[in-house]
Amino acid sequence: MTVAIEPAGYTGTQVVLHWAIAALVVLQLAVGEDIKPAYRAFSRATEPASDDIFNANIHVYVGLAVLVLGIWRIAVRLSRGVPAPPPYENFLLKRIGAAAHFLLYLFIFGMPITGALVWYFGVRALGEIHELAKPLIIIVVGLHAAAALWQHFYVKSDVLVRMVRPTGRRAR
Ligand code: HEM
Ligand code: HEM
Repeated sequence: MTVAIEPAGYTGTQVVLHWAIAALVVLQLAVGEDIKPAYRAFSRATEPASDDIFNANIHVYVGLAVLVLGIWRIAVRLSRGVPAPPPYENFLLKRIGAAAHFLLYLFIFGMPITGALVWYFGVRALGEIHELAKPLIIIVVGLHAAAALWQHFYVKSDVLVRMVRPTGRRAR
């Protein structure tokens, strides 16, 4: 088996997974509070309204979908690799980019896992962490998206294009 450490671009699978996960995470941030009425009702051992149960189920299943897609994405990343940062980028920018991607993966896995531990196992303390993460995710995703636009419009690199148009070819 050949393991490509630094392919020339992302595959179609990697591109679709990136944007599917991004859309689901943004949805979770937008409607995350909708799970709270059902969670509060269950915590007080009262029966939630059926609308509240519906909203909570959406949050839970969308969140678990992020976890499943995230596992798939990491498996592809490990077996196939990801393209290197632009070669002209300085050391500091490369480290910041890598740290931002690490944090994004931490959210992709950390949010569903903490959420599931709160929802299914009643680990209330993790509910605080799950909620506190919301502004952090907004900041990191905001900076990440701004960096991608800066790369595209100011630096004029192929960084955004390669996350839109799959190349699938390996570096030589
Ligand atoms: C990518 C995945 C997820 C994201 C981005 C996310 C995001 C959020 C957000 C933004 C809130 C509201 C925070 C607030 O209003 O301050 C929330 C609350 C909550 N989420 Fe998630 N969530 C995710 C996955 C999950 C999953 C999979 C579960 C359960 C299986 C879950 C269970 C909960 C619970 C129980 C609350 C209420 C916590 C409380 O009030 O203490 N979440 N989530
Ligand atoms: C909403 C606007 C977004 C834009 C414009 C955007 C753009 C990009 C681009 C251009 C890359 C490729 C970077 C490179 O090749 O060096 C990338 C990578 C990445 N993005 Fe996003 N993204 C967005 C949202 C998100 C969200 C919401 C998440 C997840 C929470 C996310 C997670 C990631 C991760 C983990 C990588 C690293 C991929 C890897 O190399 O393994 N992105 N993004």
